[in-house]
Amino acid sequence: MRGKMRTRIIGTGSCLPETVVTNDDLSKMMDTSDEWISSRTGIRERRLVKEETTAGMSVTAARRAMENAGVSAQEIDLIIVGTITGDYVTPSVACEVQAAIGADRATAFDINAACSGFMFALFIADAYLKTGIYKTALILGAETLSKIMDWNDRSTCVLFGDGAGAAVVRSDETGILAYDQGSDGTKGMVLTCRNRKNNNPFVSNSTEPSYTHMDGQEVYKFAVTTVPDSIKEVVEEAGLSIGDIDYFALHQANIRIIRSVAKRLNVSEDKFPTSLEHCGNISAASVPILLDEMNGKGLLKPGMKIVLSGFGGGLTWGSAVVEW
Ligand code: UT7
Repeated sequence: MRGKMRTRIIGTGSCLPETVVTNDDLSKMMDTSDEWISSRTGIRERRLVKEETTAGMSVTAARRAMENAGVSAQEIDLIIVGTITGDYVTPSVACEVQAAIGADRATAFDINAACSGFMFALFIADAYLKTGIYKTALILGAETLSKIMDWNDRSTCVLFGDGAGAAVVRSDETGILAYDQGSDGTKGMVLTCRNRKNNNPFVSNSTEPSYTHMDGQEVYKFAVTTVPDSIKEVVEEAGLSIGDIDYFALHQANIRIIRSVAKRLNVSEDKFPTSLEHCGNISAASVPILLDEMNGKGLLKPGMKIVLSGFGGGLTWGSAVVEW
């Protein structure tokens, strides 16, 4: 019986910070324009934190996902947060969430897979659940990317936003039908943010902060080739064809990437819902926020086949076919 169990998403939740920053707002601060940002990326506005924190948004998203799933804190066995922008180096965001929601039975930890963070967290949860050790997991993607942006670098800071998304997953008879994940560390330097420098007494480093740097065109090329291949692979592995998929929920980096993937798969763009217009790119949080928006709009019906796909820093990528 256990061999047939799958990992099913049974609830979703999300949380965006209150402050809306439009492209026009940014064009008053730097040499950019709504025309440049929206035509190159599809992004029109993003939410940025003022008082909110990565953990605070995660707790709200988690509570909403648990309510949506009808699951209590005592039922949560495992909490995994995909993030590169936790509030502390330690404790992890996942441990902060555990404390806030009172999931005292849970094991909690963060993972760093950049924009693929939610997908990798989902696959880790799937592996734990398949062993039978755990039954119910809370997985999140959560970021405060605005704190690792160079606000003098118009080529990166206009692209990203802040927010958190969550899903409750549980062992069930259906759920994840197939997944594909991968990494290519040899290309890691195309999207970087250095950690703090070592300032021990035996080295002489300056302590200037480090921000996100991206070779946008290299990341773009990686995305438009790797993502369609990864999607084709999981769909085939699930024993389905591309035409059987009801929705493709992709990481929200750039509308041109999404259009290119749709074209390469020969699928109508209507099957690719988006949130980037109002959220920007929120790295690990993009996929679960989009999924929660789809869920909130009532787009997701039992039996539907949905492709989820994340890609980005590392480089990393991960795609799954889930039956809703
Ligand atoms: O989540 C991780 C995954 N990340 C991605 O998937 C990002 C993938 N890459 C992209 O989406 C695109 O490469 C970008 C949107 C980042 C950039 O678009 P692009 O068409 O590759 O533009 P570019 O970097 O070639 O820049 C074109 C021009 C440059 O000016 P010159 O050199 O042609 O005079 C830039 O200086 O646009 C200029 N530029 C801007 N102009 C106005 C760069 N940023 C801006 C800006 N406003 N914000």
